[in-house]
Amino acid sequence: MSVETGIRFQNIVKAFGPKRVLNGVSFDVHKGEVFFIIGASGVGKSVLIKHLVGLLYPDEGEIWLDGEEISKFDEVRMGPVRKKCAMVFQHSTLFDSMTCAENVALPLRKHKGLTLKESVAEAKRRLHVVHMQEFGDRYPPELGDGMRKRVAIARALTLEPEYVLFDEPTTSLDPVSARRVDKLIRELSDTLGVTSIVVSHDLSSIFTIADRIVMLYKGHVRLLGTRDDFKHTPDGVVNQFINGRAQGPMDL
Ligand SMILES: Nc1ncnc2c1ncn2[C@@H]1O[C@H](COP(=O)(O)OP(=O)(O)OP(=O)(O)O)[C@@H](O)[C@H]1O
Ligand SMILES: [Mg+2]
Repeated sequence: MSVETGIRFQNIVKAFGPKRVLNGVSFDVHKGEVFFIIGASGVGKSVLIKHLVGLLYPDEGEIWLDGEEISKFDEVRMGPVRKKCAMVFQHSTLFDSMTCAENVALPLRKHKGLTLKESVAEAKRRLHVVHMQEFGDRYPPELGDGMRKRVAIARALTLEPEYVLFDEPTTSLDPVSARRVDKLIRELSDTLGVTSIVVSHDLSSIFTIADRIVMLYKGHVRLLGTRDDFKHTPDGVVNQFINGRAQGPMDL
């Protein structure tokens, strides 16, 4: 069944060999929200979001994006989907030998046909969005992890995606940089109307910026709801996870 806008995962099954990682996962992501996917390591969070950009295809089930079923799209039809949904990978994938502005300029040259000079000028404007305008002429190795992450986010935003998928955006950042990245993700939604899907273990991000959260457990959706729903759930497995307790009913 389609949805007019937003994303629908419908009964997604994905196995690697004999191992069924996703065993019938269904939920919707609404346009404009900051949506978190949480769950233990290895539960299939990265696997799930890779389905949105055709890096993986489901064994069963459907994925709908703005009224189109994309889960059977070939490489050619995936092209526009990848412009609409940008992915920010966990590890910075910036080129060290190019300045920050040149890194952001790369997609502009490739997809918008701008010259090097035009694209770098535009890239410097784009660095404003992530509060990195001062650093356009610096090289990534000169910057800290948090700053590099913000440049990577600026690059993901260059083709003006409607959806941005963040895989562990604050993991390995110091707490101050992590909170800056959180603030930025919230701003993208509030000011540009970007829909963010954030895979995260970072409880402080989750309970600060999430509109809604889904927790995956043993191949299924364990709980889908708001921050309040998660704080007040009687579900012992969810409780153990969000309180980071070693003891409890959770089976890892
Ligand atoms: N391409 C692949 N081939 C085979 N197995 C894979 C592949 N990708 C993922 N898996 C397996 O699927 C399971 C889920 O992986 P996934 O990377 O989605 O976990 P995750 O929830 O993102 O965990 P983490 O929090 O550690 O990043 C893991 O057991 C992983 O080994
Ligand atoms: Mg992962």
